Amino acid sequence: MSEATIRYGDREVKLPVIKGSETESGVDISRLAAETGLFTLDRGFGNTAESESSVSFIDGEAGILRYRGYPIEQLAQQATFLEVAYLLLYGELPNRHELDAFTGSVTRHTLLREDMKHLFEAFPHNAHPMQILASATSALATYYPDALDPRDPKSVEVSCRRLLAKMPTMIAWLYKYRVHQPYIYPHNDLDYPSNFLYMVHSLPTEEYIPDPVVVAALNVLLILHADHGQNCSATAVKLVGSGEANIFSSVAAGVLALSGPRHGGANQEVLEMLETMEAAGGDVSYFIERAKDRSDPFRLMGFGHRIYKNFDPRAQIIKRAAEDVLAKLGIDDPLLNIAFELERVALSDDYFIERRLYPNVDFYSGIIYRALGFPTDMFTVLFALGRLPGWLAQWKEGAEDPHTRIFRPQQVYVGPTARDFVPISQRP
Ligand code: SDX
Repeated sequence: MSEATIRYGDREVKLPVIKGSETESGVDISRLAAETGLFTLDRGFGNTAESESSVSFIDGEAGILRYRGYPIEQLAQQATFLEVAYLLLYGELPNRHELDAFTGSVTRHTLLREDMKHLFEAFPHNAHPMQILASATSALATYYPDALDPRDPKSVEVSCRRLLAKMPTMIAWLYKYRVHQPYIYPHNDLDYPSNFLYMVHSLPTEEYIPDPVVVAALNVLLILHADHGQNCSATAVKLVGSGEANIFSSVAAGVLALSGPRHGGANQEVLEMLETMEAAGGDVSYFIERAKDRSDPFRLMGFGHRIYKNFDPRAQIIKRAAEDVLAKLGIDDPLLNIAFELERVALSDDYFIERRLYPNVDFYSGIIYRALGFPTDMFTVLFALGRLPGWLAQWKEGAEDPHTRIFRPQQVYVGPTARDFVPISQRP
């Protein structure tokens, strides 16, 4: 095994280097503090791995993303979302029997307890969907207390199926509550994306048959969002799970982490940014200059990524899919042309080139969601629906890892040194 040597003062420590199966290696610093008295300081964990993982591989320089070794380009073209969910959860693509059994068990658990309607109805109609979804996800633990033990593999299995099955219904029902329409119950004869679209768009007054173009586009989007290694929300899910909280609580934390505009919330922000640009006449140069101005908090939403430094492979697939879906649906969305122009101008500007800022997964996804009939503030819950199997796979990997410890980072304290209490009568 190769080693890294760290010298500090009169101390020298040799630390093992763990080589991954692809291009990544990590120096194991488990003994660093004990042997040197030093912690590492790594804001945002840009240089730190908390664990070894087998779920997804990302090569930020080459623009590669693989789920359990399979390129997302192949999965997006040939797989169904539940097939990918199975792959992420169990590490292998299912055979026909395994997929039918998995699909059947998910399909048979899509119903929610009727009481959950009171949960949705406790919120203001204009409550943000991510806030409602996080509450509903956490509430599932109270409706299904029979399988909460994170140390019991059978309970974990049951709860994973329940979450995969009930997330679409929860999202559809919170949507129906927000738009003052009746709840639509799942139809077990529909596939996963079709069932979700049916529950969202159907009305008791008329038959709704999901458009195959829309179903196929949603299937691709769900697959492309399914996992992305140790991103912010996956880390939140694992962190909460590291305390042996149940999987519903852990995923609820992931939903809330994803809601931030720097993370999954960006897909909503991108659409709102493009609408602002359209309202301003479509001249993107003014916004590009604002994004470059460090004194201006405005950022180009949907641009930049901690890992991808040449292109986000998901963004490339979604960009092509946006053109294809809008053409098939006969939609001429001016925001797509503004997005194209924004990408073109930004990628020829030194500020973005020097900082290696490219469109990420959130840049074009909202244009498709909009074409599929979803309102802008529903975009991030659609991201959550796609990311659920990745969260579950990452959580399980952490729970099953014998080396897992509770997440408890160190700090470098820079506050006041020891001082005595001063009674208020003696304070100036
Ligand atoms: C997702 O981690 C994942 O895998 C996430 C994700 C997943 O699948 O889970 O891929 C999903 O969250 C995609 C990212 C969505 N967020 C956005 O689109 C929001 C806009 N982008 C950023 O805020 C930013 O790029 C991040 C948060 C995505 C990445 O932040 P980093 O890696 O911490 O980079 P940084 O903030 O240190 O920026 C480096 C430089 C800075 O300039 P300087 O200090 O060098 O002068 O680039 C600048 C930043 O100001 N910069 C931007 C910018 N993003 C970074 N400038 C203008 N517009 C931007 N979008």
